[in-house]
Order: sequence, then structure tokens, then C-alpha cells
Amino acid sequence: MHGKGFGGGKVILVGEHAVVHGKPAIAAGVHRGVTATASRAERDLLRIAPWGVAVAPDTDGDDPLARAFAAVLSGYHPRPSLRLDAEVSLPAGAGLGCSAALGVAILDAVDHALDVERSRVTLAELAMAWEREFHGTPSGIDNTTAALGGLLRFEHGVRTRALSARRLLHLVVADSGHASETKQMVARVRAGRDADPDTFSRTLRDMGEIVNNAESFIRLGDVASLGIALDENHDILARLGLSTPRIESMCGDARRAGALGAKVTGAGGGGCIVALAEDADHAVRVRRALGPRAFVEEVGRAA
Ligand code: PMV
Repeated sequence: MHGKGFGGGKVILVGEHAVVHGKPAIAAGVHRGVTATASRAERDLLRIAPWGVAVAPDTDGDDPLARAFAAVLSGYHPRPSLRLDAEVSLPAGAGLGCSAALGVAILDAVDHALDVERSRVTLAELAMAWEREFHGTPSGIDNTTAALGGLLRFEHGVRTRALSARRLLHLVVADSGHASETKQMVARVRAGRDADPDTFSRTLRDMGEIVNNAESFIRLGDVASLGIALDENHDILARLGLSTPRIESMCGDARRAGALGAKVTGAGGGGCIVALAEDADHAVRVRRALGPRAFVEEVGRAA
């Protein structure tokens, strides 16, 4: 008895944080992610190879990973004891949805091992229980994109829509090397909201507009305007205290290399930037400007 599963990473193009407060956001699945294998074992165990981690499920423990593993396994009964082996090809705490990819990959692997059939949409919903153990009040965008991939418009309580782009989007993703905790960054934004609710509601309105405009630019293939929307979104995130000097300098490097727009992506406070290039060749030049660990992703199908 053996099952394999996959959960993908993601970048948020526009709308992170506002999405926690009921606004829409647009995310793109990336090819890097997590592969998990489930096999029958003497006792339940989750091993994450690159991190040297091995945890048993523990519903009430201090370790969110042990609690999340318990939350996932509790959905299957009866079942044999299972060992999960995960291979992670995403940096953790970098805004690329690593924890959600892990949760989706584990659920997917267990489903395959136990011959459970379900849609990727249901898989995404189940992975929410996993995400809650890490992030407290996740919007659901990470687990949804980890399960579905592609270019998505996500809004809490509204059916997620796949967006088709008139032109492929050539993205460059680069890691600042500084990890941050989504939960803390979400709490920082919430504290800002509580301190000044009027400014915050204007910020949310602006973010919502940026997302709606970005969606139109994607549909129309207007990458120059999309780049400006990315920059505007970055400025708002920076005002919310979610950028860092390193992120600012990386966005500057990307723009000097001709990127149409560049922004922090995901929770911020470190993590990754995403930059938009004009085409495949330009993406290579922007990637070079961002160092050896930056990578290129092409998203959106030409309509
Ligand atoms: O940094 P990540 O991959 O955890 O992305 C979080 C996205 C937020 O909007 C900041 C939080 C959320 O739950 O949507």
C-alpha cells in the first residue's frame, strides 16, 4: 500500500493580506512544491527529508506540525498506521505557500494510499484544517492554490475562478533569505487596522481596486499596466510594514533590470519578491539581476 501526492507552491500577484479581510486576490501556482509518499507503517509518522524532521501526530501538543498532522489523519477512519515522507522544494516562511503545499501533498498521498477519490477542490478545503494550525485565520488562498495550481482569483466565500491570460506572464521569483511567520505578519496588519480603522478601510478599498484592475490587465494581456499594479500593491504592503530593506533593494534591482513591476509576495516581513518581465528573454535578464537562486515561472494560458 503506497500513495503519492503533490501540493504546489504559489506566488500572490496582488491582494495578499487584504484577502484575509474579505477582499479578492490573484495567485499563481508555481511548479516547485511538495511531493509526499504515504505507506503502511507500525505507527503514524511524518518525515520531512530536507529539514531532518520526524513528528508523530499530536492533537494537543505545542508543535503545530504535529497538530496539523493529527488534524489531517483524523479525517480517515478506519485506517492503518501510516508513514508520510515529504520532499520539499520550496523555502519555508518565504511567502511561497510552503505549509499549504505540504498539507495538500500529505492529504493527496493518504487519499491515494487508501483509494479515496475526491476532487482537488475538496482537497483544498480539507487542507484548511492543516493551515489553521500554522496561521490561525488563513484566508484559504494558499491551500486553494496549492491544490488547484494555475492562475486564480480567490475571494473568501466566493467560488475560486481560474483566469485565462491573453499573454503568458513571465514572473521572476527571488528569496530575500529572511524567513518570516505569516501568523505574525497577519497580526501586524490586524493591529494596524485596530489602531486606525478608517485608514485601513481605505487601504482595503484600494487593494480591492488594484486586484480588479489587475484581473482586467491579465485578461487583456496588458502586462505594462499589470506591472504598475504590482508596484502599487507593493507600496501599500510597504506602508503596512510588510517590506524590509532587503526586499526594497531586491525590488529596486528588478526594476533597474527593466522589470515592469516588482513586489513583496505573501506574508512579507522577509520572504520573496515577485517581478514581472516582458517576455522569456527579459525574464532571464531579470533573474540574473536577482542572483543565482532566483527562478522564472511562466503562468497563464494564452487565450
Ligand atoms: O506567506 P504565505 O505563503 O503564508 O502567504 C500568506 C498570504 C496572506 O494573505 C498574508 C495570509 C492569508 O491567509 O491569506
